Amino acid sequence: MRNFHDDIQTILVTETELNRITFRIAEEIDRDYAESEHLVLLCILKGSLIFTSDLMKKLTIPSEVDFMKVSSYGSGTVSSGNVNIVLDIMRKDLPDCDILVIEDIVDSGRTLSYLVDYLRLKGAKSVKTCALLDKPSRRVVNFQPDYIGMEIPDEFVVGYGLDYDERYRNLPFVGVLKPEVYEK
Ligand code: PRP
Repeated sequence: MRNFHDDIQTILVTETELNRITFRIAEEIDRDYAESEHLVLLCILKGSLIFTSDLMKKLTIPSEVDFMKVSSYGSGTVSSGNVNIVLDIMRKDLPDCDILVIEDIVDSGRTLSYLVDYLRLKGAKSVKTCALLDKPSRRVVNFQPDYIGMEIPDEFVVGYGLDYDERYRNLPFVGVLKPEVYEK
């Protein structure tokens, strides 16, 4: 039987490190939003589903969760450069909401930069961003998330929500995919 863990070249962030990172960020959010009356964690599907669920379990302040889906990549490893809203946030109380956008990764920065502008234009009370992984060497727009798990080199990573052609999201760690998997 084929084991898809065999497609991983190296583990970049272990389960233990992911646990430590999510605890540290949850503490920062607990502290920074202690006075917020309406914190909404905005999970950007699909990549941030595992990060968001682990993070929200570790918060001790009241929060809600909501979802958007945007697409910035075509299939494979190449970014299209466009940001399209596939599923919009559907709520009328945005002016009362402190929105914290949760992403698995910042690469070019286009997605989060676009989302911050979009949510502010829609009238959110405040908008901040949180990304588990940051690839600063890939940035094409000037953007810095408010909360970052860790910086990583420019390698094609999968696992803990991140995919290659919709697979590997369920790996419990973040790993570098063997090039022969996507060069086939
Ligand atoms: C990935 C990731 C971010 C975006 C980051 O999403 O989840 O949303 O790309 O790239 P950027 O900084 O260059 O904009 P993707 O479009 O692969 O969708 P997915 O989350 O459904 O896998």
